[in-house]
Amino acid sequence: MTAYNTDYPVISVRPVADETFALRFHAPELSAALRPGQFLNILTSELYDPLLRRPYSISNVIGEECEIIFTIVGKGTALLAEKRSGDTIGVLGPLGNTFGYEKDFGTAIIVAGGIGVAPFPFLVRELQRREKSIHTFLGARNAGRVVRDGLAGLHIATDDGSEGYHGTAVACLDAFLGTHEPDRPRIFACGPNLMLRATQELAARRGIACELSLESEMACGVGICQGCPIERTEGERKYALVCTDGPCFDSRDIIFHEHHHA
Ligand SMILES: Cc1cc2nc3c(=O)[nH]c(=O)nc-3n(C[C@H](O)[C@H](O)[C@H](O)COP(=O)(O)OP(=O)(O)OC[C@H]3O[C@@H](n4cnc5c(N)ncnc54)[C@H](O)[C@@H]3O)c2cc1C
Ligand code: FES
Repeated sequence: MTAYNTDYPVISVRPVADETFALRFHAPELSAALRPGQFLNILTSELYDPLLRRPYSISNVIGEECEIIFTIVGKGTALLAEKRSGDTIGVLGPLGNTFGYEKDFGTAIIVAGGIGVAPFPFLVRELQRREKSIHTFLGARNAGRVVRDGLAGLHIATDDGSEGYHGTAVACLDAFLGTHEPDRPRIFACGPNLMLRATQELAARRGIACELSLESEMACGVGICQGCPIERTEGERKYALVCTDGPCFDSRDIIFHEHHHA
């Protein structure tokens, strides 16, 4: 598949929650090529500096425009939040594989933690086109951090109980499954590794098909630096690369370790 490496004009940067922004840019060929689950490697500064490339999930495609969502945590995201209409950003993509939204299932169960919500508006749109039932379990630190744009079937959980279920998104899902039996469910999860491990455990315990989208730290994003390994349960290679084999993996195929704390 072709990956484009192009400078695109920024259309807008708007706040969507506390410390969290949606950046939209105009990219006709790229928007036609992107699929839910894929990511982009974005040069966050206008001056070329390879140390300021960061991976971002594609959050949505609206006609010829692409949108990413990010929370400010460090240098790259602070630079992105300062972009204005007319600035450009250097974007490499589409990168990585896609969510298995075309697989055979009845109900999509989305589990998102924090900024792990980013890839889901695009996935929700494709699921709605295929008339799937959707339940989204959205976990955030507090009510101010909840990003709900473009989602469907929302069940909100907050760490401090300021909105919805008081606890994690995974605990909220577990409670839901105690009283509901969704038709042929498939889980799609993205968020911190602790949340992904808990989702992996829940899926195994309840016998539900499950995909995890990993957000490990990356440098090159294209399989060269070997900086994004994840251990596999089986297969020819003991380690997969999150950037080229993922970022979406079947939850039965990967092993998390204690140092995968992010
Ligand atoms: C496939 C993929 C998709 C991603 N999608 C998104 C997205 O849609 N939206 C989004 O906001 N972020 C996303 N990320 C994370 C993003 O690439 C950056 O790592 C993050 O925005 C921090 O960049 P920064 O330059 O602001 O922070 P930095 O200055 O690089 O780091 C600041 C601090 O945050 C820590 N940190 C950096 N990256 C991570 C990380 N991934 N996990 C935990 N701690 C980290 C650093 O150790 C440091 O302490 C994704 C990562 C991957 C691999
Ligand atoms: S980020 Fe370089 S190999 Fe994955």
